[in-house]
Amino acid sequence: MAGNRTFTMIKPEAVAAGHSGKIIDMIISAGYRIVALKYTHLSAAEAGTFYEVHKERPFYGELVDYMASGPIIAAILEKENAVEDFRKLIGATDPSQAEEGTIRKRFAESKAKNAVHGSDSDENAGIEGNYFFSGRERF
Ligand code: CMP
Repeated sequence: MAGNRTFTMIKPEAVAAGHSGKIIDMIISAGYRIVALKYTHLSAAEAGTFYEVHKERPFYGELVDYMASGPIIAAILEKENAVEDFRKLIGATDPSQAEEGTIRKRFAESKAKNAVHGSDSDENAGIEGNYFFSGRERF
């Protein structure tokens, strides 16, 4: 059975460009309830740990530097079929491939600076949410 929670980050370039409010509005309008929310700034070491699964990929260094380049907004989101539906809402990793009406089509600059992160599985949604939020930060 599909889980009902996913994890997202609004990435540094989207926060810096002032898109956070519009992105959160799209998320809530799509039926998600905010379970946890945080404005924070990852160190390079923290970004490296978060994206450890991509360590062997050629873009890992660029990804880590970028994710530590400025503040981000992290959130746990709740809705039926949360992970799969959220990936549809954000669109393809590469914004040139993202469908009209998706968050990345509207706000992403490139494959690396792609405005938002969305968990790719229920298991990773749990791991990623636990990385950012304690039990008493969830409502
Ligand atoms: P995200 O959904 O956060 O998960 C992994 C991230 O790696 C992805 O979004 C992109 O920001 C980044 N990424 C994936 N592919 C590439 C690529 N080819 N070049 C640079 N960054 C990438």
